[in-house]
Amino acid sequence: MSRFGSEGEDIIGRWSEEKLDLLSKYLKAYSDIMNKQKKSWLKAYYYIDAFAGSVRPRAKEDERRYIDGSPLRALQTEPKFDGYWFVDVSPRRIERVRDLREEFPNRVIYVRQGNCNDVLCNEIVPQLPYASKQRAFVFLDPYGLQVDWDTVSELANTRTCDVFVNFSVMGVTRLLPREQKPERDVVEQLNKVMGGTDWITQIYQQPSVTQLDLFGNLAEQTLSRDTLKAEWLASLYTEQLRSLFPYVSRPVLMRNSTNSVLYALCLASHNQTATKITNEIFNRHERLKS
Ligand SMILES: C[S@@+](CC[C@H](N)C(=O)[O-])C[C@H]1O[C@@H](n2cnc3c(N)ncnc32)[C@H](O)[C@@H]1O
Repeated sequence: MSRFGSEGEDIIGRWSEEKLDLLSKYLKAYSDIMNKQKKSWLKAYYYIDAFAGSVRPRAKEDERRYIDGSPLRALQTEPKFDGYWFVDVSPRRIERVRDLREEFPNRVIYVRQGNCNDVLCNEIVPQLPYASKQRAFVFLDPYGLQVDWDTVSELANTRTCDVFVNFSVMGVTRLLPREQKPERDVVEQLNKVMGGTDWITQIYQQPSVTQLDLFGNLAEQTLSRDTLKAEWLASLYTEQLRSLFPYVSRPVLMRNSTNSVLYALCLASHNQTATKITNEIFNRHERLKS
């Protein structure tokens, strides 16, 4: 989670920078491939940032250091996209995003202030039908549980949109009490974000059931609220994504300085090469870290 600086900008930890570096690497690969497709069938391809943020967040360990946020990562990617959509609920942040038009006068930039679930479903998705021969890369990078499962489902149904999602594992664990089952409103909230709640019943029932590890193998450990692991929640979410998209990368876990898992980053796509490239980028990243 981030804190805010004096101008309302995010102050971000090392893991957020890693997330942004992974985004840059994938955007470069995506744009190279899409640009080549434009010589044959592809009409246009877009970058859609549903949680654009404060544009230049600051580093937690050195608040004088500004970091390029996701909109800048996309705008700096070569070859350029045919258009960039930036959405944020905060009017102040949207002002900063609008200023990017001056900084990047040769980029086509669309800016919307509002809840991204509404903007994506009501305005953006209708412009990207399969027959239009357009493609889009959608970055979903919320603080917490702000991405509705229905939105992810609508994006998947287009068959034109790939989704790079930073799923808040911490947001889910925080909602799960240790002592008793969650209240009905919490179950509804989780259902809205995860697209199902059978797993909640499972983790609170006795005896516990066996859980899947990060690679989808049955692990020895039993599943219960007490033994619930971030890895399991991350693979549960990627499994859910597999019900919507034909190809889903493995999740990479984003940890804070005390090694707690905060988020799980993964790509859900209509193209096998896309997830293969993402897995390679994620594997390289983890090899370098270890
Ligand atoms: C984690 S920050 C995004 C950081 C940015 N993607 C980056 O990497 O530089 C989350 C942003 O989402 C915005 N936000 C929160 N709820 C939202 C919603 N429902 N729709 C759109 N934006 C939202 C916040 O104002 C904040 O700027």
